[in-house]
Amino acid sequence: MTIEILTVLPELLTSPFEHSIMKRAQERGHLNIKLHQLRKWAINKHGQVDDYQYGGGAGMVIMCEPLANAIDELQQEGKFDEIIFVTPDGKTFDQKDANTLSLKNRILLICGHYKGIDQRIRDIYVTQEISIGDYVLSGGELAAAVIVDAVGRLIPGVLNDETSALTDSFQDNLLAPPVYSRPANFRDLEVPPVLLTGDPKKVDVWRQEQALQRTKQRRPDILKKD
Ligand code: ADE
Repeated sequence: MTIEILTVLPELLTSPFEHSIMKRAQERGHLNIKLHQLRKWAINKHGQVDDYQYGGGAGMVIMCEPLANAIDELQQEGKFDEIIFVTPDGKTFDQKDANTLSLKNRILLICGHYKGIDQRIRDIYVTQEISIGDYVLSGGELAAAVIVDAVGRLIPGVLNDETSALTDSFQDNLLAPPVYSRPANFRDLEVPPVLLTGDPKKVDVWRQEQALQRTKQRRPDILKKD
């Protein structure tokens, strides 16, 4: 899968993908991340990509031309399966969206800044608008990093048995159960005895119960989801 990111701050997006699972996904050829500096398509030699908004008001808007020219040029190599604008007024991203996106071939994430991007780019090019939560970040880059990480780890072949996504929180509309490691007794707190029985069926039943209980207590809203 190829994920391309259009941004005025590509520097913000290098480190998050250079470690751990994202690093391995790229090394093994499952994930190709391409960062594009939007200023490459600036309207003048000063690197301008934004301008004041019509109607007045504080905050700059990323202009149509740089974005349209960038997308058109990138699509000469082939169409994107999705062109996603990362924005606080988009649909709130969840595990189901991550699963769906992980099956695409090539997607583009557009990071906004300031007051956002000209509405006409959203009308003409954008196929999905995604928010990572009900709070406002300084720009779309950190949100894009979250989306790439959540999607990238789900690409078939990226995770092995040890890191399998099947037992992740949210994967089956349940939070993950509690986990324990050595020692069996820590400050008088014992590991639940069932985990020491060596009986995988009993352990599975316990984990399922714990996941359900935790979800009922903490996130009853996700139990109702399809
Ligand atoms: N850009 C700024 N805030 C954002 C958010 N919460 N989600 C996605 N993009 C954003």
